[in-house]
Amino acid sequence: MIKNLTLTYNEYSDWNKVPKENLNLIQKAKEARESAYAKYSEFKVGAAILLDNGIVITGNNQENAAYPSGLCAERTAIFYAIANYPTATIIKMAVVAGKNVENSEVVAPCGACRQVLLEYENRQNKPIEFMFTGMQGRVISFSRCSDLLPFCFDGSLL
Ligand code: THU
Repeated sequence: MIKNLTLTYNEYSDWNKVPKENLNLIQKAKEARESAYAKYSEFKVGAAILLDNGIVITGNNQENAAYPSGLCAERTAIFYAIANYPTATIIKMAVVAGKNVENSEVVAPCGACRQVLLEYENRQNKPIEFMFTGMQGRVISFSRCSDLLPFCFDGSLL
């Protein structure tokens, strides 16, 4: 039997179409991107997380000569957030990425980051809004991270 999967998300044609609170978070992610350590790929990524206590946590990708030892911006930010505010709820996260300011292609999160986001979304039992964009142009926004990873491994059988 063939089944269909429907995904719902928002797409904004440009940054200036995004609601103000989310645009602020995108701007914070963009600033964080500037400090990324992307010596090997030169592909810089910045992430910003809004917690329910109002604190914004940022992170960026950290690369390493032993390539797999590096870490994506999303996980750098979320691990810091949870490590330092273990009881806070994550409200939303924005990611800005690209090699240079010309990049207007949206950059979607890698599978490993989706898995990690899902873990904390399940743990807090409240959706984490997740938006991603390039350096300009389109913004894609999901109202929950579980929509980014259908048929996930959610650990409930462990
Ligand atoms: N990267 C991220 O920071 N987030 C993603 O979701 C995908 C990829 C980083 C990892 C690496 O430093 C560079 O982008 C190129 O893969």
